[in-house]
Amino acid sequence: MKMTKYRIATIPGDGIGPEVMASAVSVLSALAEKMDGLSFEFTEIRAGDGLKAETGVAMRPETVDKVRESDATLFAAVGETAKEVILPLRQKLELYANLRPTKAYPNVPALKEDVDIVIVRENTEGLYKMVGDRGDGWGVNLRIITKGASERIARYAFELAKKDGRNKVTAVHKNNVLDKTCGVFLDACREVAKSYPDIEYEEMIVDACAMKLILAPEQFDVLVTTNMFGDILSDEAAGLVGGLGLAPSANIGDENAIFEPVHGTAPDIAGKGIANPIATILSASMMLDWLGERDGAEAIEKAVMTILKEGKTLTPDLGGSATTVEVTEAVLKQL
Ligand code: IPM
Ligand code: MN
Repeated sequence: MKMTKYRIATIPGDGIGPEVMASAVSVLSALAEKMDGLSFEFTEIRAGDGLKAETGVAMRPETVDKVRESDATLFAAVGETAKEVILPLRQKLELYANLRPTKAYPNVPALKEDVDIVIVRENTEGLYKMVGDRGDGWGVNLRIITKGASERIARYAFELAKKDGRNKVTAVHKNNVLDKTCGVFLDACREVAKSYPDIEYEEMIVDACAMKLILAPEQFDVLVTTNMFGDILSDEAAGLVGGLGLAPSANIGDENAIFEPVHGTAPDIAGKGIANPIATILSASMMLDWLGERDGAEAIEKAVMTILKEGKTLTPDLGGSATTVEVTEAVLKQL
């Protein structure tokens, strides 16, 4: 029998982070008990506002190497210091593809049914390079877009479409104004599209795309876009299908990957035990899929779908009154 032990780094972070992380870790541990040959070794890494308050730094320098050396990393949420933690991790480890699947889930009120979109957000450059300056009464943030990063994200989007049997890739841009940077991005997308004649390629301006996501989301399949547009559109897309409580994501590079819920630290409900753990549990499912553990990934997804279909054990954000622990236990029971 094949024995695989995965070394998983966990970064619980701040706010509701530790609560939802505990939930995902117990789901993964239960899965390992059920599935022959699968096991996990978790190493917790502290980072975020709490660590900064205590030590003066939001992320210790060795964290980047620890994440690099792990087989995969699960990240929950970091507060004010997010730009000192998750952004350097994404950029230093070249986790260039930020995948944000958006699906309408059973029993969860969505603006439109039948939504099944994947947003492929460039994750290493653009406005997120944080190159800029501020003086008396002025500020500059440079938007840096390169051909190399644009080509690799476009290729990632088309490969994903091919692998998942998706038919269309839409490149989202603002080339009518930001012609220099979006010009580089679109040229790269057009070039890459030529290698995938079986997949339809279209382009859309970001503001129009934001509106069509609400009015006619069924027209989209894979969206590929630059960093900041992807940030905004992915929150909008999560809202379209019932909020951030369910939205998982993956930061993927050629060697490493970090999986994280799209939501933040939710300080208003932190410590109350009522945070929805599903986004983090689904991120753990994406992690298993990336590790090649397809069966485990599906088992978790199926368990979550069953809980949603039953509609009995839901946290307040989904109109229920269950606690984080109760939802976790319901998922464990399904497994
Ligand atoms: C996200 C978040 C981050 C981002 C913040 C917390 C830095 O909003 O993952 O979407 O802007 O990328
Ligand atoms: Mn965001």
